[in-house]
Amino acid sequence: MERTCFNTELSEKNVGEQVALVGWVSKKRNLGSIVFIDLRDRSGIIQVTAGEGINVPDIRNEYILHVYGKVALRSSPNPNLPTGKIEVIADKIEVVNTAKTTPLIIADETDALEDTRLKYRYLDLRRPVMQKYQDIRHNIKMAVHNYLSKERFIEVETPILTLSTPEGARDYLVPSRVHHGKFYALPQSPQIFKQLLMIGGFERYYQIARCFRDEDLRADRQPDFTQIDIETSFLDQDQFLTMMEGLIKDIFKKTINYDVKLPLRRLSYKEAMENYGSDKPDTRFDIKLHDVKEVFANSEFGGFVSAEAIKAIKVDGVAHDTSRKVIDSLTLEAKKFGLGGLSIIKRENGEFTGSFVKFLSESEKEGLIKVLDIKDDDIVIIAAGPYSRVCALLGALRLRYGHELGLIKEGTFDLLWVVDFPLFERSTEDGSITSTHHPFTRPRDEDLQYLDSDPTKILSYAYDIVINGYEAGGGSLRIYDQDVQKKIFKVLGLSDEDVKRKFGFFVDAFQYGTPPHAGMAFGLDRLTMILGGTDNIRDVIAFPKNLAAVCPMSGAPNVVDEDQLKDLGIAITDFEK
Ligand code: AMO
Repeated sequence: MERTCFNTELSEKNVGEQVALVGWVSKKRNLGSIVFIDLRDRSGIIQVTAGEGINVPDIRNEYILHVYGKVALRSSPNPNLPTGKIEVIADKIEVVNTAKTTPLIIADETDALEDTRLKYRYLDLRRPVMQKYQDIRHNIKMAVHNYLSKERFIEVETPILTLSTPEGARDYLVPSRVHHGKFYALPQSPQIFKQLLMIGGFERYYQIARCFRDEDLRADRQPDFTQIDIETSFLDQDQFLTMMEGLIKDIFKKTINYDVKLPLRRLSYKEAMENYGSDKPDTRFDIKLHDVKEVFANSEFGGFVSAEAIKAIKVDGVAHDTSRKVIDSLTLEAKKFGLGGLSIIKRENGEFTGSFVKFLSESEKEGLIKVLDIKDDDIVIIAAGPYSRVCALLGALRLRYGHELGLIKEGTFDLLWVVDFPLFERSTEDGSITSTHHPFTRPRDEDLQYLDSDPTKILSYAYDIVINGYEAGGGSLRIYDQDVQKKIFKVLGLSDEDVKRKFGFFVDAFQYGTPPHAGMAFGLDRLTMILGGTDNIRDVIAFPKNLAAVCPMSGAPNVVDEDQLKDLGIAITDFEK
């Protein structure tokens, strides 16, 4: 098909040139003697004008046209279009293909329901904003390939049909036809394979890797998603994080031309929880958690006596807006986090007000003013109870106020490392111990002493990169000492038999000259969301699943033929109603 260029390659410089364009009809205005068409191709929109004497076929939105014509300056430019100063005066317009009326409007602004957009994803993808997200995604990948190749990394693919990998979510399983009763697991990440590649002597590996996790979906989670997966040998934590900072700087520069200032800030996990109530703090606004346990050391208020933690946030200038309804909704939030309630006080006309004030002594009031620097029209929200719940609740409330009060400046980026995570977590349900990251994460040398006595005290060489409150990536130094690895398995309650069955081949490999190694994985989808400015992960994945893990377009997952099941030696006993 004859085509001289993409639409938006044309500018005033091309005035007078003869061009041949193709594209979809985005809009048509027929003024009788003259017809204006907005022609949209991959690059954007240009106005085509057909004057008298030109045979304009019957065209509708989303028809595909082949247009021949001459570039001219527009008498009334459109400042909203990159090609708004020019138009193409058509000599000939041919219809290449027709289109039915589309079930959604092909424009950035759409009021279509998300399930309609997902059902007709190929039309949704025609919207310029959706193409922008895919451009950003592609540019991130290009920046990754270029930067890492320069640093002597190579991309190696690892299996999709594999054994269970240890990221802690549920596996997607694939039944074997050849070995009835046996299953492959889809990888939750290439973790085991990338470590084996280090034992295999590659030293610097990366992969744009597909990962699969059967977990509850959220706005920033998909069942199949993509990681920029990285592993290196012989680098310590500082060397590795510095190398990754170079990568992230390059990604921001090459995709949205934003200069990230290095080195990135590092917050310990403890500092992050203490101050922001989250291990992925959004520090673009100033509300912080304050420890007020000391202030209430002598309090006789029921909820405070013997509480593990008492913490508070202060929100400036909202006392006059804090109605009974607002207080009720805050209290409801506390219940969701498993706390009985909240204590809320306001500062109005130089006095504390609110139903909780009667429980405050003068010295407690003074203490609060001192710790929180309270001024007129501020409110103070105090939560008491188990440390992790208090932090999580106040962390969520600070975020809610940050968004509601518009404290976060659009278009700004806040990048930081969270380091020194605990190696283990204790389940609140059954008290059992699990790995915070995965069982191959290296404990800090100085904490190895607690391995037998109090393993929950151990911190690890694990790090997350946090951008605007999202966990954009995470990783760790790995254990390369077999004895330490064995002890970790023991703390996790894995018997020799379990270890052998689950990762025997992996543990064996460590006996043959394992280099010290470290790595991480960035969430490609999350990075694209952040750089694209959307808070919905589905926007940046060409063909995503909805929140019910269903693809409304293809209908996956679906039933299969009886014969296929027979081949696999599988009988379904529990059908979805
Ligand atoms: P982790 O489990 O922290 O680490 O995952 C790394 C990054 O992947 C992204 N991510 C997701 N993105 C979308 N949907 C999901 N369901 C999802 N789950 C994770 C996040 C996260 O930070 N093997 C280790 C890395 C390592 O230690 O090298 C791992 O997978 O952005």
